[in-house]
Amino acid sequence: MQEDKSRAVRLDSFGGPEVLDVQEVPAPQAGPGQVRVRVTAAGLNPMDWIMTTDADTAARFGLSLPAGFGTDFAGVVDQVGAGVTGFAPGDRVFGAALSRAVADFVVVDASGETAANEVHHTPDGVDDRTAATLAIAGRTASAALAVVAPGPDDTVLIGGAAGGVGVFAVQLARIAGARVIGTGSASSAGFLRDLGAEPVGYGDGLAERVRALAPGGVTAAMDLFGTQTVDAARELGVPDDRICTIAAQVDGVPGANGANAPSGSLAEIARLVAAGRLRVPIAASFPIEQIRRAAELQSGRHVHGKVVIDL
Ligand SMILES: NC(=O)c1ccc[n+]([C@@H]2O[C@H](COP(=O)([O-])OP(=O)(O)OC[C@H]3O[C@@H](n4cnc5c(N)ncnc54)[C@H](OP(=O)(O)O)[C@@H]3O)[C@@H](O)[C@H]2O)c1
Repeated sequence: MQEDKSRAVRLDSFGGPEVLDVQEVPAPQAGPGQVRVRVTAAGLNPMDWIMTTDADTAARFGLSLPAGFGTDFAGVVDQVGAGVTGFAPGDRVFGAALSRAVADFVVVDASGETAANEVHHTPDGVDDRTAATLAIAGRTASAALAVVAPGPDDTVLIGGAAGGVGVFAVQLARIAGARVIGTGSASSAGFLRDLGAEPVGYGDGLAERVRALAPGGVTAAMDLFGTQTVDAARELGVPDDRICTIAAQVDGVPGANGANAPSGSLAEIARLVAAGRLRVPIAASFPIEQIRRAAELQSGRHVHGKVVIDL
């Protein structure tokens, strides 16, 4: 591969998966305080297609055309800008680069600590595909856990438990010692059990089904999909300050945002993965040329775990 050229997913108009194209673009160069990463894998999240759906949403994220696509990445540092400490060419890394990660090369701030511009060392024992799934979903699950603070005395209801954030939230809550009941469709039941959650179907009658599973009560809840789990948790007597949302706003219920995850959350998640205590199911991986298929699958909202692009 030429180091001055980069394959990159680009959009010349906003819209659905059909606007995604692979183009050859000039490779970005690391400036002062920055590192350039030769990307080997990029993980997809709902935010990738949500923020590129239309111009108004894109503008809220600071995106303009032509835009890139994808935020989570993993790879190897290949350039280090002036003044950078802590990273050297050849280091395995992962992180987030807002809407530009599905590309051969990305440039990020070496000291960046926001959910959209950050880079961390990939520990031994964490492969690149897995590392490429950690930043957004791992941060968000950690932020949700920090709000609800589950422990061994808790039974936690997690809505949308089989998705990208859910796979982290379920396992982190189990590691914290809680009993976890996770919502999913019937086809997700086995997957949720393997993660350590007791499955329950979402939809009408959720509170009754949860009550039957946990007659002793539910003490905390995280709604990772919308508001139905919030409603059920309230019906089951969970106080608002032990409920959180990540995908909708509900008056009185705290929202959790990946950008506000406790410091060190990603390093801790990577450490748990390396130790074999947390795993990230990869639902599917695609070569960059199949970005449209990958985005279609991800935006269908029934993925179990994460979708990854190989570069
Ligand atoms: N606030 C933040 O910082 C932040 C960060 C990341 C994500 N988010 C938002 O959080 C949400 C979850 O993200 P994600 O990455 O986990 O998404 P995702 O991977 O697309 O979630 C897919 C999961 O949603 C489940 N699902 C589909 N319909 C459902 C329903 N009606 N009720 C409950 N679950 C349902 C599916 O389960 P089945 O297959 O069993 O149907 C599937 O496992 C998204 O809306 C995303 O935009 C917010």
